[in-house]
Amino acid sequence: MSRTKYLIGNWKMNHTITESKEFCYNLPAIINLADRKNVKIGVCPSFLSLNTVRRNTPFSFIVASQDVHYEQKGAFTGNVSIPMLKEIGITYSLVGHSERRQYQHETNEICNKKIKALVENNFKVIYCVGETLSEYENELTQTVVEQQIREGLLEIQAKDMSKIIIAYEPVWSIGTGINASAEIAESVCAFIRKTISELYSEEIAEQTSIIYGGSVNSDNIHSYMTTDNVDGALVGGASLNIVSYKKLVENF
Ligand code: PGA
Repeated sequence: MSRTKYLIGNWKMNHTITESKEFCYNLPAIINLADRKNVKIGVCPSFLSLNTVRRNTPFSFIVASQDVHYEQKGAFTGNVSIPMLKEIGITYSLVGHSERRQYQHETNEICNKKIKALVENNFKVIYCVGETLSEYENELTQTVVEQQIREGLLEIQAKDMSKIIIAYEPVWSIGTGINASAEIAESVCAFIRKTISELYSEEIAEQTSIIYGGSVNSDNIHSYMTTDNVDGALVGGASLNIVSYKKLVENF
C-alpha cells in the first residue's frame, strides 16, 4: 500500500481575509494538477481566514487550523475550540509547531492533550516535531524527536493512528533558508517510522504519512520526494504566494 502524499502550506500570521480569498481564485487548476500527481494539497490559514478559505475551495483541498485548544469550551481567552472549527467545516489541525513550542511554551504534554481531543473529534492531526540547532549540533536529534513522538502520542490508540500525520521540521531549518538535505530528512523520517513501529506495529508505521518541513521551496521539494520515507512537505514562506504554491505542486 502506498502512503498518502501531502503538500501543506503553513501561512502562519500572514494573509488577511481579502488576501486569503485572492489566493483561492487560481486554485482550481492547481488542485487538478495535484490530483493528477496523486498528492493531497492544502493550507493552514489564520483562524480569521479559515472560514473564507474553506468556503472558496472544494472539499478535497485541505484547510487546516494552525492550532486549537484541547478543551471544548470555557474560560480560555483568545483560544479557539474544536466545535468552533467543526462548525465551519474544518477537520484538520496542526499541533506542536515549533513556533508555538517556542513562543507559547507548548510542551509535549500539551500537544498530547490537543492530539487526544482532536482524534476523539475525528480530526486529522499534523503533529510537528523537530530538534533545535543546539540539539542538532549535540547529536540529540533522535533523542528529542523520539521523546516528542512518544509523549505526544501517549495513549493515542492504534485505531486512531490513521488520523495522524507527522511533520518533521528541524527548528534550524524553519524560515532560515537552510533546508535539511534530503539525506537528513530521510534518515530522521525513517527513524520516526521505526519509533512508530515500536509503539504500534510495522503495519501502522508503514501506513503513517511523515512529511518534512523547513525552507522547502520549488527548487528543493522534489529531492525529498525521491526518498523512501518522506511523504510530502509542510511549507511556510514558499506557500504564501499562489505562483510559488503552484510551482511547489508542479515540481513535487
Ligand atoms: P518555512 O516554514 O518553509 O518558511 O521554513 C516551514 C514551517 O514552519 O512549517
